[in-house]
Amino acid sequence: MQWTEEQYGTTVPKFDEEHKNLFRFVNQLHRSIVESKDRSIVKHNLDALVSYVVEHFRSEEEMMQSKGFEGYEAHKRSHDKFVETCANLQEQFAAGQDNITLETMQYIKNWLDSHIPNTDRQYGPFLAGG
Ligand code: FEO
Repeated sequence: MQWTEEQYGTTVPKFDEEHKNLFRFVNQLHRSIVESKDRSIVKHNLDALVSYVVEHFRSEEEMMQSKGFEGYEAHKRSHDKFVETCANLQEQFAAGQDNITLETMQYIKNWLDSHIPNTDRQYGPFLAGG
């Protein structure tokens, strides 16, 4: 995934930077799935991505709350649902029941591709400058 201002810019520099980092983790996981047969490397990259997702969501949620952003509840529900899906994925993968496939990867990318422009962008005017 390649971050561009047009596609993903939120007008909040802190979160634009975090989204760029997020894309690095996504690309790293994608590469390890394509290039590596080693499950431990894929697991490491999956865990790193999910940890960063959790950290990033927390930082958005804290700022939305502190600014009294009215879309906070709906935004948090969207985050919680994605984290739950990721946690199930981690659990299944760690238990050896599943592989992280390119299809799974596409799901993660599609989610971000929709969430950042459609949901994150809504907080821009409320959080910019903070
Ligand atoms: Fe940038 Fe709401 O995730």
